[in-house]
Amino acid sequence: MPVSDDLLGRRAEGETLDRLLTQAKSGSGQVLVLRGEAGIGKTALLDHVSARATGFRVTRAAGVEAESAFPYAGLHQLCVPFLDRLDKLPAPQREALGTAFGMAAGPRPTRFMVGLAVLTLLAEVADEQPLVCLVDDAQWLDSMSSAVLGFVARRLLAERIALVFVLREGSNAKDRDYLDGLPELFVRGLDDADARALLESVLKGPVDGRVRDRIVAEARGNPLALLELPREAADGLDPGPLTSRIEQSFVRQIEPLPSDTRLLLLTAAAEPLGDATLLWRAAGLLGLGADPAAAAVGTGLIEFGARVQFRHPLVRSAVYRSATAVDRQRVHRALADVTDPAIDPDRRAWHRAQGTTSPDEEVAADLSNTASRAQARGGLLAAAAFLEQAAVLTPEPGRRADRELAAARAKRDAGALDASLRLLSAVEAGPPDDRRSAEIEHLRGHIAFDQRRVAEAAPLLFSAAR
Ligand SMILES: Nc1ncnc2c1ncn2[C@@H]1O[C@H](COP(=O)(O)OP(=O)(O)O)[C@@H](O)[C@H]1O
Ligand SMILES: [Mg+2]
Repeated sequence: MPVSDDLLGRRAEGETLDRLLTQAKSGSGQVLVLRGEAGIGKTALLDHVSARATGFRVTRAAGVEAESAFPYAGLHQLCVPFLDRLDKLPAPQREALGTAFGMAAGPRPTRFMVGLAVLTLLAEVADEQPLVCLVDDAQWLDSMSSAVLGFVARRLLAERIALVFVLREGSNAKDRDYLDGLPELFVRGLDDADARALLESVLKGPVDGRVRDRIVAEARGNPLALLELPREAADGLDPGPLTSRIEQSFVRQIEPLPSDTRLLLLTAAAEPLGDATLLWRAAGLLGLGADPAAAAVGTGLIEFGARVQFRHPLVRSAVYRSATAVDRQRVHRALADVTDPAIDPDRRAWHRAQGTTSPDEEVAADLSNTASRAQARGGLLAAAAFLEQAAVLTPEPGRRADRELAAARAKRDAGALDASLRLLSAVEAGPPDDRRSAEIEHLRGHIAFDQRRVAEAAPLLFSAAR
């Protein structure tokens, strides 16, 4: 079946995706990774899958750059519709998932047990009705969610489940190898005829043939570029990679807006959850009324529904990057103030930290508590990152060194040995202290042991992989 909606030139992709659904429905678990550059039409293809998945339950999650700090945030989005079935899981799996999601207190869960729990949970759902799981912008998932979803993706066998990931190429996100080796579909640009048809649909009034040709040539079939670059055509196109040119085009749409409209857009960009209630409360604190909201909608760059949605993630990054540091801090402080410390202390602490550059013990202490919670969930690297940031914001040098040391410990436990050693040097450069010196020595000993083990294990792992 060809693509049913208004997507141009996606017949082959549409067929592949329809096949995936048919096979999943008949009980053979399916995985597919859609790869491609920003704006090439990956999310549009996910929307297509969602629209075609008649008879399926559909659950969806999307990575957001700022959310990658929070362990299991992405996985939680994906599983949240099914959490009422947790009691169907065997106790160790139930406890692991409950702890990972911060819903229960238990021993630090292993990724393996969380992975098993997710498999059981999804299989439980799919027993009732076939299931489609869509994970957009997987390059921005937090590393715990990535690891678990990579595990799950390799173990879907006779389940009525289709799992589709979207991965943006060319972004410098790390930790993406968890999808390596899975079936993939590279999403390419539209062909010349489709590119011209799409361009035609957005051109207002007559446009010089040479300008059209240039846009088509430079967009290389990228639909977002075809939709956005015509705005620039009059003044000639920027040099540089396509993605940054599209982003630049968004910046130029933002710049002339009134300052309160820009501030509202910035508040939305700084709020990674897309939570409308939170946004309106923060906007209220900032003294932004209905006018900037209407003006923002008028630009077509954002939609305010139950969830706040940017036209494209590049709009979010354009808004955030083009703002001044002072404004960014201001909106993060407002977002912190409207985030309930009893319900979401971690995002509150994170916003507070983004809202300040000068050391502040209260902010640092909050972050350090967030680190403890991340650690309890099993997010060691996340915990280490929060502790490092807490250390930077700690005014008192001895306490700062203690937090750096705690970060070094968490990095070592997570296997990030070089990072741990770097932090230990920072601790040494701080105020001298016998207890800390003893622990530095102790940790260095452990790290040296780990490094030898890694060195000895490497050849074995290589030959095992062959
Ligand atoms: N095949 C297509 N035909 C027409 N418009 C498309 C097509 N693919 C994508 N678009 C439009 O191009 C823009 C960018 O697509 P999107 O799916 O958001 O890209 P990506 O997720 O790869 O960054 C969207 O406005 C989308 O509606
Ligand atoms: Mg997308």
